[in-house]
Amino acid sequence: MTFLKLITAAAACLSLVEANPILRRQLSFDYNGEKVRGVNLGGWFVLEPWITPSIFQPWANGGGVVDEYTFTQTLGKTAAQQQLEAHWSSWITEADFQEIASVGLNHVRIPIGYWALNPLDGDPYVQGQLPILDQAIGWARSAGIKVLLDLHGAPLSQNGFDNSGRYGPIQWQQGDSTAQTLTAIQNLADRYAGDTDVVTAIELLNEPANWGIDMDALKQFYYDGWGNVRTQNGDTAVVIHDAFEDVQSYWNGFMNAGSGVNNVILDTHIYQIFSDGEVAMKPCDHVQTACSSAGKLAGTDKWTIVGEWTGAQTDCAKWLNGLGKGARYDGTFAGSTGYNGNCDTKYEGTVDGLQDVDKTNLEYYVEAQLDAYEAHSGWIFWAWKTESAPEWHFQNLTRAGLIPQPLTSRKHPGQCSTTTCMIPGN
Ligand SMILES: *[C@@H]1O[C@H](CO)[C@@H](O)[C@H](O)[C@H]1NC(C)=O
Repeated sequence: MTFLKLITAAAACLSLVEANPILRRQLSFDYNGEKVRGVNLGGWFVLEPWITPSIFQPWANGGGVVDEYTFTQTLGKTAAQQQLEAHWSSWITEADFQEIASVGLNHVRIPIGYWALNPLDGDPYVQGQLPILDQAIGWARSAGIKVLLDLHGAPLSQNGFDNSGRYGPIQWQQGDSTAQTLTAIQNLADRYAGDTDVVTAIELLNEPANWGIDMDALKQFYYDGWGNVRTQNGDTAVVIHDAFEDVQSYWNGFMNAGSGVNNVILDTHIYQIFSDGEVAMKPCDHVQTACSSAGKLAGTDKWTIVGEWTGAQTDCAKWLNGLGKGARYDGTFAGSTGYNGNCDTKYEGTVDGLQDVDKTNLEYYVEAQLDAYEAHSGWIFWAWKTESAPEWHFQNLTRAGLIPQPLTSRKHPGQCSTTTCMIPGN
């Protein structure tokens, strides 16, 4: 029955495209021939305490504000609106788009919550993001940057992370939440239907957590969401996140070119910092692990991007694991098992203030990841900027010479062609 539903949805869309030649537009980025090189504009339209700790500082010692939901709930609509308007209009500006283009990047991924697109009765969230997003698409157009619009938060939370808007239980798919999410996608596709020269891709949902959701229902949602985007145009790429499942063994065969859908991109996120074992790894282990992902990426049967990755080899950044929570790296995270070193300059600080040894390790690690993540369709770094998390700040890392310029040059070439550790002192 599910299968029949999928086929019917796909057939309906194809005939719609056939009947409306105007809907057939050329994709304005060549995902076959060019590499995606991008940054995430994180912490802009979806608050994350660790990206902008200053916004959450009043609750540093408690008070129950841990995400955008509790932030808006606690402040109330008027005060929340005022603070968020100020944040939206200053965190990213046209100058950022110009600089993003000037360092050789060709994409930005912009996270947005369902509450900006399909506000629900009873939610504390406030709106006003879309006029600024409209402006950003104009800035991207002027700068020659392509935009991947990424639905980062779904009603009832698809992963329970603060970055879904609401920290806590994973309850997405309950009640009407799947239909409400599809409406949000439809509204997004409708609004930017005339901007396919810039908006080349729409991501249906960021990081749905396979451990808390029904995966068959997620797959049906992916087909339905693809159909929603296709009501507006035939070519915009539709991005599906891997839900933390294996990009080959789990996802090969699904929504590939042979399954009746076109222009699907699989998005996988590669971090090596969210377990005790990973934060205990030595710099060369991090490099080798990054390199080992190249084969995985190359062997997928659809376009595949690494839509999030970082220069960080630790989870030291303040509140990265949630407001008020510590780090596994230095053993301050509840339940973590060891001490691997101190978080001093990595907890809060600047790129310039990093210790030399950290700068060196980061430089090798970033280059190895660039080598590996271009094995298929390319990559998008998390994030363009942060208030005080140096290892996550693409702009400052580039200005400091720790990310290569041009992006294809290498100070340490060939790291993924050898098992020898090239990092001095390791
Ligand atoms: C990034 O650079 C700006 C400008 O120099 C500086 O004010 C800011 O503190 C830096 N942030 C980080 C995390 O390096």
